[in-house]
Amino acid sequence: MKIAVLGVGTTKFGELWEFSPRALVKEAVSQALADAKLDLAEIEALYVGNMLSGILGGQENLGALFAEELGLRCPAFKIEGACASGGLAVHSAILGILAGIYKTVLVVGIEKMTDHKPEQVSAALMGAGYEEERMAGITFPGLYAILARVYMEKYGITQKDLAAVSVKNHYHATLNPKAQFQFAVSAEQVLASPIIADPLRLLDCSPVSDGAAAIVLSSKFKTKGKTPVYITASAVATDSLSLGGRKDLTSLLATVRAAKKAYQIAGISPKNIDVAEVHDCFSIAEILACEDLGFFSRGKAAKEIAAGKTTLNKGKLVVNPSGGLKACGHPVGATGVKQIGEIVIQLRGEAGARQVKGAKVGLAHNVGGSGSVAVVHILKNE
Ligand code: COA
Repeated sequence: MKIAVLGVGTTKFGELWEFSPRALVKEAVSQALADAKLDLAEIEALYVGNMLSGILGGQENLGALFAEELGLRCPAFKIEGACASGGLAVHSAILGILAGIYKTVLVVGIEKMTDHKPEQVSAALMGAGYEEERMAGITFPGLYAILARVYMEKYGITQKDLAAVSVKNHYHATLNPKAQFQFAVSAEQVLASPIIADPLRLLDCSPVSDGAAAIVLSSKFKTKGKTPVYITASAVATDSLSLGGRKDLTSLLATVRAAKKAYQIAGISPKNIDVAEVHDCFSIAEILACEDLGFFSRGKAAKEIAAGKTTLNKGKLVVNPSGGLKACGHPVGATGVKQIGEIVIQLRGEAGARQVKGAKVGLAHNVGGSGSVAVVHILKNE
Protein backbone atom coordinates (compact mmCIF):
# COMPACT_ATOMS: atom_id res chain seq x y z
CA MET A 1 0.00 0.00 0.00
CA LYS A 2 1.28 3.47 -0.89
CA ILE A 3 0.92 6.26 1.67
CA ALA A 4 1.20 9.82 0.41
CA VAL A 5 1.66 13.06 2.29
CA LEU A 6 -1.09 15.13 0.71
CA GLY A 7 -0.65 18.32 2.70
CA VAL A 8 1.75 20.00 5.11
CA GLY A 9 1.55 23.08 7.32
CA THR A 10 3.51 24.71 10.10
CA THR A 11 3.27 27.79 12.25
CA LYS A 12 6.31 29.93 12.75
CA PHE A 13 8.42 28.52 15.59
CA GLY A 14 9.57 30.77 18.42
CA GLU A 15 8.29 32.66 21.45
CA LEU A 16 4.61 32.83 20.52
CA TRP A 17 3.17 34.22 23.74
CA GLU A 18 0.10 35.70 22.06
CA PHE A 19 -1.11 32.33 20.68
CA SER A 20 -2.76 29.50 22.63
CA PRO A 21 -2.08 25.82 21.81
CA ARG A 22 -5.56 25.71 20.22
CA ALA A 23 -4.73 28.64 17.95
CA LEU A 24 -1.38 27.11 16.92
CA VAL A 25 -2.98 23.76 16.07
CA LYS A 26 -5.76 25.44 14.07
CA GLU A 27 -3.23 27.44 12.08
CA ALA A 28 -1.02 24.44 11.22
CA VAL A 29 -4.04 22.25 10.37
CA SER A 30 -5.72 24.84 8.16
CA GLN A 31 -2.49 25.20 6.17
CA ALA A 32 -2.16 21.41 5.80
CA LEU A 33 -5.78 20.95 4.68
CA ALA A 34 -5.54 23.83 2.20
CA ASP A 35 -2.31 22.35 0.86
CA ALA A 36 -3.99 18.93 0.50
CA LYS A 37 -7.10 20.56 -1.03
CA LEU A 38 -9.21 18.50 1.38
CA ASP A 39 -12.18 19.29 3.62
CA LEU A 40 -12.17 18.38 7.28
CA ALA A 41 -14.99 15.94 6.51
CA GLU A 42 -12.50 13.66 4.73
CA ILE A 43 -10.34 13.20 7.86
CA GLU A 44 -11.00 9.81 9.47
CA ALA A 45 -8.64 10.03 12.47
CA LEU A 46 -6.51 12.58 14.32
CA TYR A 47 -3.10 11.86 15.86
CA VAL A 48 -1.57 14.46 18.19
CA GLY A 49 2.13 14.44 19.10
CA ASN A 50 2.81 16.26 22.37
CA MET A 51 5.13 15.84 25.33
CA LEU A 52 4.64 18.58 27.93
CA SER A 53 1.07 19.85 27.89
CA GLY A 54 0.08 17.75 30.93
CA ILE A 55 3.08 18.50 33.11
CA LEU A 56 3.46 22.19 32.16
CA GLY A 57 -0.07 23.29 31.28
CA GLY A 58 -2.15 20.81 33.32
CA GLN A 59 -3.97 19.84 30.12
CA GLU A 60 -4.08 16.20 29.03
CA ASN A 61 -6.66 14.50 26.79
CA LEU A 62 -5.31 16.35 23.75
CA GLY A 63 -6.83 13.99 21.19
CA ALA A 64 -10.40 14.86 22.15
CA LEU A 65 -9.49 18.49 22.89
CA PHE A 66 -8.08 19.24 19.45
CA ALA A 67 -10.72 17.11 17.69
CA GLU A 68 -13.35 19.33 19.32
CA GLU A 69 -11.43 22.51 18.57
CA LEU A 70 -11.11 21.53 14.89
CA GLY A 71 -14.73 20.41 14.62
CA LEU A 72 -13.84 16.74 14.11
CA ARG A 73 -15.84 13.85 15.53
CA CYS A 74 -13.45 11.09 14.47
CA PRO A 75 -11.20 8.87 16.62
CA ALA A 76 -8.40 10.95 18.11
CA PHE A 77 -5.21 9.95 19.89
CA LYS A 78 -2.42 11.67 21.79
CA ILE A 79 0.99 10.06 21.32
CA GLU A 80 3.85 10.79 23.74
CA GLY A 81 7.48 9.72 23.37
CA ALA A 82 9.48 12.68 24.73
CA CYS A 83 11.01 14.82 21.94
CA ALA A 84 10.12 12.04 19.48
CA SER A 85 6.37 12.47 20.14
CA GLY A 86 5.81 14.03 16.69
CA GLY A 87 7.65 11.28 14.81
CA LEU A 88 5.84 8.62 16.84
CA ALA A 89 2.48 10.26 16.04
CA VAL A 90 3.31 10.00 12.32
CA HIS A 91 4.36 6.35 12.76
CA SER A 92 1.13 5.57 14.65
CA ALA A 93 -0.95 7.25 11.94
CA ILE A 94 0.80 5.15 9.30
CA LEU A 95 -0.03 1.99 11.29
CA GLY A 96 -3.71 3.02 11.32
CA ILE A 97 -3.65 3.31 7.52
CA LEU A 98 -1.63 0.12 6.98
CA ALA A 99 -4.08 -1.78 9.20
CA GLY A 100 -6.80 -0.77 6.72
CA ILE A 101 -8.84 1.05 9.38
CA TYR A 102 -8.37 4.60 8.05
CA LYS A 103 -7.58 5.93 4.60
CA THR A 104 -7.01 9.62 5.29
CA VAL A 105 -5.69 10.93 8.61
CA LEU A 106 -4.40 14.14 10.12
CA VAL A 107 -1.26 14.30 12.27
CA VAL A 108 -0.47 17.37 14.32
CA GLY A 109 2.49 18.06 16.60
CA ILE A 110 2.19 20.84 19.18
CA GLU A 111 4.21 22.25 22.04
CA LYS A 112 3.92 25.43 24.08
CA MET A 113 7.03 25.88 26.22
CA THR A 114 7.91 29.55 26.54
CA ASP A 115 4.97 30.49 28.81
CA HIS A 116 6.70 28.61 31.63
CA LYS A 117 9.73 29.37 33.77
CA PRO A 118 13.06 27.93 32.48
CA GLU A 119 13.50 25.75 35.57
CA GLN A 120 9.98 24.32 35.11
CA VAL A 121 10.72 23.55 31.44
CA SER A 122 14.07 21.90 32.26
CA ALA A 123 12.47 19.78 35.00
CA ALA A 124 9.55 18.81 32.75
CA LEU A 125 11.90 17.80 29.91
CA MET A 126 13.76 15.57 32.36
CA GLY A 127 10.53 13.61 32.72
CA ALA A 128 11.90 11.84 29.63
CA GLY A 129 15.06 10.87 31.49
CA TYR A 130 16.10 8.21 33.93
CA GLU A 131 15.06 8.54 37.57
CA GLU A 132 18.59 8.50 39.00
CA GLU A 133 19.89 11.03 36.47
CA ARG A 134 16.93 13.27 37.35
CA MET A 135 17.47 12.88 41.09
CA ALA A 136 21.14 13.79 40.66
CA GLY A 137 19.99 17.11 39.15
CA ILE A 138 21.24 16.56 35.61
CA THR A 139 19.41 18.25 32.73
CA PHE A 140 19.27 17.44 29.00
CA PRO A 141 22.13 19.81 28.13
CA GLY A 142 24.09 17.95 30.85
CA LEU A 143 23.33 14.52 29.37
CA TYR A 144 24.34 15.58 25.87
CA ALA A 145 27.44 17.28 27.32
CA ILE A 146 28.51 13.85 28.60
CA LEU A 147 27.98 12.39 25.12
CA ALA A 148 29.98 15.29 23.63
CA ARG A 149 32.84 14.85 26.10
CA VAL A 150 33.14 11.09 25.47
CA TYR A 151 33.03 11.62 21.68
CA MET A 152 35.63 14.40 21.82
CA GLU A 153 37.97 12.20 23.86
CA LYS A 154 37.56 9.22 21.54
CA TYR A 155 37.87 11.01 18.19
CA GLY A 156 39.94 14.05 19.12
CA ILE A 157 37.49 16.68 17.90
CA THR A 158 37.30 20.16 19.43
CA GLN A 159 34.60 22.62 20.49
CA LYS A 160 35.26 24.40 17.18
CA ASP A 161 34.27 21.22 15.32
CA LEU A 162 31.04 21.09 17.35
CA ALA A 163 30.39 24.76 16.54
CA ALA A 164 30.37 24.02 12.78
CA VAL A 165 26.99 22.30 13.19
CA SER A 166 25.42 25.44 14.67
CA VAL A 167 27.05 27.70 12.07
CA LYS A 168 25.54 25.60 9.26
CA ASN A 169 22.09 25.30 10.81
CA HIS A 170 21.87 29.01 11.65
CA TYR A 171 22.85 29.77 8.03
CA HIS A 172 20.09 27.48 6.74
CA ALA A 173 17.58 29.16 9.09
CA THR A 174 18.32 32.55 7.52
CA LEU A 175 16.52 31.11 4.47
CA ASN A 176 13.50 29.82 6.43
CA PRO A 177 10.82 32.41 7.27
CA LYS A 178 9.25 30.00 9.80
CA ALA A 179 12.48 29.63 11.81
CA GLN A 180 12.87 30.92 15.38
CA PHE A 181 16.38 32.31 14.81
CA GLN A 182 16.73 33.77 11.32
CA PHE A 183 20.27 35.00 11.81
CA ALA A 184 23.70 33.60 11.00
CA VAL A 185 26.35 32.91 13.66
CA SER A 186 30.10 32.45 13.25
CA ALA A 187 32.19 29.76 14.92
CA GLU A 188 33.76 32.54 17.01
CA GLN A 189 30.30 33.60 18.28
CA VAL A 190 29.44 30.00 19.18
CA LEU A 191 32.74 29.62 21.06
CA ALA A 192 32.19 32.93 22.89
CA SER A 193 28.60 32.14 23.94
CA PRO A 194 27.96 31.23 27.60
CA ILE A 195 28.68 27.69 28.78
CA ILE A 196 25.44 25.80 29.49
CA ALA A 197 26.92 22.38 30.33
CA ASP A 198 30.62 22.08 29.52
CA PRO A 199 31.58 21.60 26.65
CA LEU A 200 28.19 22.72 25.28
CA ARG A 201 27.59 26.45 24.98
CA LEU A 202 24.38 28.41 24.46
CA LEU A 203 24.84 28.30 20.67
CA ASP A 204 25.36 24.52 20.74
CA CYS A 205 21.83 24.11 22.16
CA SER A 206 18.40 24.04 20.57
CA PRO A 207 16.13 26.62 22.21
CA VAL A 208 12.90 26.46 24.19
CA SER A 209 10.15 27.06 21.62
CA ASP A 210 6.44 27.21 20.82
CA GLY A 211 4.94 25.90 17.60
CA ALA A 212 2.71 23.42 15.79
CA ALA A 213 3.03 21.44 12.57
CA ALA A 214 0.52 19.28 10.71
CA ILE A 215 0.47 16.78 7.85
CA VAL A 216 -2.31 14.92 6.02
CA LEU A 217 -1.53 11.28 5.19
CA SER A 218 -3.62 9.18 2.83
CA SER A 219 -3.71 5.89 0.97
CA LYS A 220 -6.50 7.34 -1.23
CA PHE A 221 -5.21 9.89 -3.67
CA LYS A 222 -5.15 10.83 -7.33
CA THR A 223 -1.77 10.77 -9.03
CA LYS A 224 -2.88 13.23 -11.72
CA GLY A 225 -1.50 16.74 -11.31
CA LYS A 226 1.04 17.33 -8.56
CA THR A 227 3.13 14.18 -7.91
CA PRO A 228 2.56 13.19 -4.31
CA VAL A 229 5.43 12.57 -1.92
CA TYR A 230 5.26 9.07 -0.48
CA ILE A 231 6.40 7.74 2.87
CA THR A 232 8.30 4.62 1.90
CA ALA A 233 9.51 3.61 5.37
CA SER A 234 8.63 4.33 8.98
CA ALA A 235 10.67 2.68 11.74
CA VAL A 236 10.99 3.05 15.50
CA ALA A 237 13.54 1.65 17.97
CA THR A 238 14.25 2.10 21.66
CA ASP A 239 17.25 1.90 23.99
CA SER A 240 17.89 2.38 27.71
CA LEU A 241 16.59 5.59 29.29
CA SER A 242 19.84 6.09 31.18
CA LEU A 243 23.27 6.77 29.71
CA GLY A 244 24.59 4.39 32.39
CA GLY A 245 22.65 1.54 30.77
CA ARG A 246 24.58 1.80 27.49
CA LYS A 247 27.76 0.10 26.30
CA ASP A 248 28.79 2.92 23.96
CA LEU A 249 28.25 6.65 24.42
CA THR A 250 29.61 7.65 21.00
CA SER A 251 26.51 6.42 19.15
CA LEU A 252 22.75 6.30 19.75
CA LEU A 253 21.83 2.64 19.26
CA ALA A 254 18.12 3.44 18.88
CA THR A 255 18.97 5.55 15.81
CA VAL A 256 21.20 2.82 14.37
CA ARG A 257 18.42 0.24 14.79
CA ALA A 258 15.59 2.43 13.47
CA ALA A 259 17.70 3.52 10.48
CA LYS A 260 18.70 -0.05 9.59
CA LYS A 261 15.05 -1.09 9.59
CA ALA A 262 13.97 1.98 7.59
CA TYR A 263 16.63 1.47 4.90
CA GLN A 264 15.60 -2.20 4.64
CA ILE A 265 11.89 -1.35 4.26
CA ALA A 266 12.60 1.35 1.65
CA GLY A 267 15.17 -0.85 -0.14
CA ILE A 268 17.77 1.90 -0.22
CA SER A 269 21.06 2.78 1.45
CA PRO A 270 22.30 5.99 3.14
CA LYS A 271 24.01 7.08 -0.08
CA ASN A 272 20.60 7.42 -1.76
CA ILE A 273 19.49 10.20 0.62
CA ASP A 274 19.56 13.70 -0.92
CA VAL A 275 18.17 15.68 2.02
CA ALA A 276 17.73 14.90 5.72
CA GLU A 277 16.20 16.58 8.73
CA VAL A 278 18.03 15.11 11.74
CA HIS A 279 17.55 15.58 15.47
CA ASP A 280 20.19 18.20 16.37
CA CYS A 281 18.90 19.07 19.86
CA PHE A 282 22.57 19.81 20.63
CA SER A 283 25.47 20.14 18.17
CA ILE A 284 26.90 16.78 19.24
CA ALA A 285 23.52 15.16 18.46
CA GLU A 286 23.81 16.02 14.74
CA ILE A 287 27.33 14.57 14.62
CA LEU A 288 26.11 11.32 16.21
CA ALA A 289 23.05 11.26 13.93
CA CYS A 290 25.12 11.66 10.75
CA GLU A 291 27.19 8.63 11.74
CA ASP A 292 24.34 6.53 13.16
CA LEU A 293 22.30 7.12 9.99
CA GLY A 294 25.28 5.95 7.92
CA PHE A 295 26.03 9.27 6.20
CA PHE A 296 29.65 9.30 7.39
CA SER A 297 31.93 6.73 8.95
CA ARG A 298 32.65 6.72 12.71
CA GLY A 299 34.60 9.68 14.00
CA LYS A 300 34.44 11.54 10.67
CA ALA A 301 31.12 13.46 10.72
CA ALA A 302 32.34 16.57 12.57
CA LYS A 303 35.12 17.24 10.05
CA GLU A 304 32.83 16.51 7.08
CA ILE A 305 30.18 18.91 8.42
CA ALA A 306 32.83 21.58 9.03
CA ALA A 307 34.04 21.06 5.43
CA GLY A 308 30.56 21.93 4.14
CA LYS A 309 29.62 18.39 3.02
CA THR A 310 26.08 18.83 4.40
CA THR A 311 25.61 22.55 3.69
CA LEU A 312 23.07 23.84 1.18
CA ASN A 313 24.55 24.39 -2.31
CA LYS A 314 27.84 22.82 -1.20
CA GLY A 315 27.22 19.23 -0.14
CA LYS A 316 25.66 16.39 -2.12
CA LEU A 317 23.57 15.48 0.93
CA VAL A 318 22.07 18.48 2.71
CA VAL A 319 21.31 18.08 6.42
CA ASN A 320 18.77 20.27 8.23
CA PRO A 321 17.88 22.76 5.48
CA SER A 322 15.10 24.08 7.77
CA GLY A 323 17.74 25.22 10.27
CA GLY A 324 17.18 22.06 12.34
CA LEU A 325 16.18 22.08 15.97
CA LYS A 326 19.09 24.42 16.67
CA ALA A 327 17.89 27.39 14.65
CA CYS A 328 14.41 26.58 13.34
CA GLY A 329 13.48 25.87 16.97
CA HIS A 330 12.41 22.83 19.00
CA PRO A 331 8.81 22.85 20.26
CA VAL A 332 9.36 19.25 21.25
CA GLY A 333 6.06 17.57 20.29
CA ALA A 334 5.94 19.50 16.99
CA THR A 335 9.48 18.80 15.80
CA GLY A 336 8.98 15.32 14.32
CA VAL A 337 5.97 16.47 12.29
CA LYS A 338 7.74 19.65 11.12
CA GLN A 339 10.71 17.57 9.94
CA ILE A 340 8.43 15.51 7.66
CA GLY A 341 6.79 18.70 6.39
CA GLU A 342 10.19 20.15 5.51
CA ILE A 343 11.22 17.00 3.63
CA VAL A 344 7.93 17.04 1.69
CA ILE A 345 8.44 20.67 0.65
CA GLN A 346 12.00 19.84 -0.41
CA LEU A 347 10.93 16.79 -2.45
CA ARG A 348 8.21 18.82 -4.17
CA GLY A 349 10.80 21.46 -5.11
CA GLU A 350 8.87 24.13 -3.19
CA ALA A 351 11.50 25.15 -0.61
CA GLY A 352 12.42 28.42 -2.32
CA ALA A 353 15.77 29.89 -1.24
CA ARG A 354 16.66 26.80 0.79
CA GLN A 355 15.73 24.29 -1.95
CA VAL A 356 18.06 21.30 -2.21
CA LYS A 357 18.38 21.04 -5.99
CA GLY A 358 17.00 17.86 -7.53
CA ALA A 359 16.13 16.24 -4.17
CA LYS A 360 14.27 12.97 -4.74
CA VAL A 361 14.78 10.97 -1.55
CA GLY A 362 14.59 12.43 1.96
CA LEU A 363 14.95 11.19 5.52
CA ALA A 364 13.52 12.51 8.81
CA HIS A 365 15.11 11.49 12.11
CA ASN A 366 13.47 12.27 15.46
CA VAL A 367 14.91 11.33 18.87
CA GLY A 368 13.36 11.19 22.34
CA GLY A 369 15.27 11.56 25.60
CA SER A 370 19.02 11.15 25.37
CA GLY A 371 18.49 8.47 22.71
CA SER A 372 15.95 6.20 24.40
CA VAL A 373 13.68 6.33 21.35
CA ALA A 374 14.36 7.09 17.70
CA VAL A 375 12.02 7.35 14.72
CA VAL A 376 13.22 7.31 11.11
CA HIS A 377 11.03 8.07 8.10
CA ILE A 378 12.09 7.83 4.46
CA LEU A 379 10.20 9.76 1.79
CA LYS A 380 10.35 9.73 -2.02
CA ASN A 381 8.85 11.95 -4.67
CA GLU A 382 8.22 9.26 -7.24
N1 COA B 1 20.28 29.38 20.83
C1 COA B 1 20.44 30.70 20.54
N2 COA B 1 19.96 31.69 21.30
C2 COA B 1 19.28 31.33 22.40
C3 COA B 1 19.06 30.00 22.76
C4 COA B 1 19.60 29.01 21.93
N3 COA B 1 19.44 27.73 22.22
N4 COA B 1 18.34 29.96 23.90
C5 COA B 1 18.09 31.23 24.23
N5 COA B 1 18.65 32.07 23.33
C6 COA B 1 18.69 33.52 23.36
C7 COA B 1 17.33 34.12 23.62
O1 COA B 1 16.66 34.41 22.42
C8 COA B 1 17.70 35.38 24.36
O2 COA B 1 18.12 36.36 23.43
P1 COA B 1 17.79 37.90 23.65
O3 COA B 1 18.47 38.26 24.94
O4 COA B 1 18.38 38.54 22.43
O5 COA B 1 16.30 37.97 23.74
C9 COA B 1 18.91 34.97 25.18
O6 COA B 1 19.50 33.88 24.47
C10 COA B 1 18.60 34.56 26.60
O7 COA B 1 17.48 33.68 26.52
P2 COA B 1 16.97 32.85 27.76
O8 COA B 1 15.62 32.31 27.43
O9 COA B 1 17.11 33.67 29.02
O10 COA B 1 18.00 31.67 27.78
P3 COA B 1 18.17 30.60 28.91
O11 COA B 1 19.55 30.79 29.48
O12 COA B 1 17.01 30.60 29.86
O13 COA B 1 18.08 29.24 28.09
C11 COA B 1 19.13 27.28 27.30
C12 COA B 1 19.13 28.81 27.29
C13 COA B 1 20.20 26.78 26.35
C14 COA B 1 19.38 26.75 28.71
C15 COA B 1 17.73 26.79 26.80
O14 COA B 1 17.52 27.28 25.49
C16 COA B 1 17.60 25.31 26.85
O15 COA B 1 17.32 24.72 27.89
N6 COA B 1 17.78 24.61 25.69
C17 COA B 1 17.70 23.18 25.63
C18 COA B 1 16.29 22.71 25.50
C19 COA B 1 16.21 21.21 25.62
O16 COA B 1 16.84 20.59 26.45
N7 COA B 1 15.38 20.58 24.76
C20 COA B 1 15.24 19.16 24.75
C21 COA B 1 16.35 18.56 23.99
S1 COA B 1 16.54 16.82 24.25
